[in-house]
Amino acid sequence: MHDTVSGEECTASLKELTLLFETAKGCRKCQLAETRKNFVFGEGNAQAELVVIGEAPGAEEDASGRPFVGRSGQLLNKILQAAGFSREEVYICNILKCRPPGNRNPLQGEIDCCMPWLLGQLQIVKPKVILILGKVAANTIFENKLPLGAMRGKVITWKEFDCFITYHPAALLRNPEWKRGCWEDIQLMMGHYEKLRAKKSAPENEN
Ligand code: URA
Repeated sequence: MHDTVSGEECTASLKELTLLFETAKGCRKCQLAETRKNFVFGEGNAQAELVVIGEAPGAEEDASGRPFVGRSGQLLNKILQAAGFSREEVYICNILKCRPPGNRNPLQGEIDCCMPWLLGQLQIVKPKVILILGKVAANTIFENKLPLGAMRGKVITWKEFDCFITYHPAALLRNPEWKRGCWEDIQLMMGHYEKLRAKKSAPENEN
């Protein structure tokens, strides 16, 4: 699924991500540093064409230091697989890198402190498309208060990135009847992604 990149390019991105992680991991900019077990930076392919952004680590992610490893993560893996991606091929991260106590919603001050890490990750990975999971993550990124339904079903350009929004896997676990809608969102994203890839591989000056 992934375009071929040179070994040097890959190593450079990995080095930059590792450097960003080393800078970020001791972050104490907000009160979540007091309660976290681990700083959950993100993981995956440093040159991924697809970046997945969730809300914040839950208990299992906090315990392991890895994003989306609990039940939501298992469902996310299945969604990615159905779209033709392996988990290793994409890059997975969250808006917040530390778990809010009791999994409460992120506070604006926490978001403001954490956003530079996410922006740094995206500037390094430079994905073709971004998949945003859930209303909270989407409202945070687009700085709006729209319902999820108003943001699904279309591409939304944010900075230089083409973003698609779907249900958070935790919401899908609670409401399995939403899985059909999620699949539609994923198909829409994949159609867009394939078009971008086709454009890239098409000869530039065809007569
Ligand atoms: N939910 C999220 O939004 N992120 C995770 O990493 C796990 C659960």
